[in-house]
Amino acid sequence: MKFKLLILAAICALTASCSSGQADFKNVIPQPVLIEQGAGEAFNLSGKTVIGYQAGLQNEAAFLSEYIQQSTGIECKTVEGEGDINLVTGAEFDNPEAYSISVKEDGITISGATAAGVFYGCQTLRKSLPVGKFCCVDIPETAVSDQPRFAYRGMHLDVCRHFYDVDFVKKYLELLALHNVNYFHWHLTEDQGWRIEIKKYPELAEKACKRAGTVIGHNLNGSPHDSIPYGEGCYYTQEQIREIVQYAADRHIQVIPEIDMPGHMLGALSVYPELGCTGGPYEIWTGWGVSDDLLCVGKDETIQFAKDILEEVCELFPCQYIHIGGDECPKTKWHNCPYCQARIKSEGIKKGNAHSIEDALQGWFMHEMAEFLAEKGRKVIGWDELLEGGAVGKDLVVMSWRGSAGGVAAAKQGIQAIMVPNSHFYFDYYQTDDPEGNGEPLGIGGYLPLEKVYSFDPYQDIPEDCQPYIIGVQANVWTEYIGSEEHLESMAIPRCDALAEVQWCPQEARDYASFMTRLEHQRKLYERLGYNYAPYAFPDYVKPAPAAEPAE
Ligand code: ACM
Ligand code: ZN
Repeated sequence: MKFKLLILAAICALTASCSSGQADFKNVIPQPVLIEQGAGEAFNLSGKTVIGYQAGLQNEAAFLSEYIQQSTGIECKTVEGEGDINLVTGAEFDNPEAYSISVKEDGITISGATAAGVFYGCQTLRKSLPVGKFCCVDIPETAVSDQPRFAYRGMHLDVCRHFYDVDFVKKYLELLALHNVNYFHWHLTEDQGWRIEIKKYPELAEKACKRAGTVIGHNLNGSPHDSIPYGEGCYYTQEQIREIVQYAADRHIQVIPEIDMPGHMLGALSVYPELGCTGGPYEIWTGWGVSDDLLCVGKDETIQFAKDILEEVCELFPCQYIHIGGDECPKTKWHNCPYCQARIKSEGIKKGNAHSIEDALQGWFMHEMAEFLAEKGRKVIGWDELLEGGAVGKDLVVMSWRGSAGGVAAAKQGIQAIMVPNSHFYFDYYQTDDPEGNGEPLGIGGYLPLEKVYSFDPYQDIPEDCQPYIIGVQANVWTEYIGSEEHLESMAIPRCDALAEVQWCPQEARDYASFMTRLEHQRKLYERLGYNYAPYAFPDYVKPAPAAEPAE
């Protein structure tokens, strides 16, 4: 039989201008939990291979066919029912996203706990394939069984500081799908631009999307800007949002919108100044930093405004999670505001041991929003500042961004947490210790090389009985200093590969040297798919020679 396969491979290589390739499941990122290679004959993938799917898995079959074509050039038909590669659900698994792959000479079966599991099985098969132009590919007899470590596997994108259009968001979602990421955290509102159409408040998108310019160089708000108006028309219509939510859902990704409140709200305040403590006027920022101007939560109309927005947001986004921000809210304006102080009195808000009375006012506001969303069956996610105001309750999820401490504190209190520490998962940080020498584009700062991302242990300092409260891990891509698609891709890739292994693989299975060999294969796929990855992360990177000193 081996001889027959060799002849087949030789014929297919001779009769066409393409060759025979070899698949290898050991190339896959994130590495599957169990890969057992058998001694039998390989399955021969070719243009004759038919992908058969069980009813309900048409989508996954179409993706697999597309992926095979992308990597190898081989075109496979799909049929409902029996094929040579079969996609099925129905077997018993402990984890709803688990799957198995059985490769035998006479066929391949990808069996998932759910369609999502089948999808991840298709991703794994896809990533085992060689990248090139092949007439046929031998896939060795193998049994793969796999499941994710964490139920929440997120990637974030800030589209406010710099805007990214629908086509790019789709390309980004494809990158997420390639890594089995299942949540897309979409940061939609900011001091520098509002990016989501709200029917009840049309000026938010139409006017608050624009700023007068963008600060020059490495600067905060107030520094000189380039006077080039930025952001005209840069928002997503509700129709586009529905399209993106569906595009993501097709890839088993849920979209979490973030409406950051009560801070980071200069977009809204610039068009509705009456919702601020002083009544404004407020301007959309041209630079970066943290503003003292927050929504005035002492005013009833502000509370109504926030609820109206969340009402429309819930209609657009079916995800159980809605992110309401809560980060970086200096309380000076609230401290001096008669409305905010009156709210403190009327609600009987008290100062805590570890927090000010205005922090407690923020806790009250976040709790109001959380209750409103809970009535709609939604759950709030907020940044780790949420823990500082008391009163928010336990039925929320804390995103630990100022290191892991917020996540550790939340888990110890029985509050769910997602680990997004800036020390390991802020992909806007530099990737080398000599950004200028390496030609890294201007960035926010920091130093976050690939190996550091890979090294993260989500359970560090978490007692064993509190570990179930850590529901997952995410990376953030803030875009103050990221103004082009190429730059953005190079900030995310290949750090997102290291993230994927933190999210998916058991801690004890993680091995950086093995990851780096697998990354070499993944790099070919990036080249084929047209993603711009960071060259500095790879061992063959050569630092440019320093520019010669100009002659005296
Ligand atoms: C944040 O980085 N301000 C959440
Ligand atoms: Zn106020």
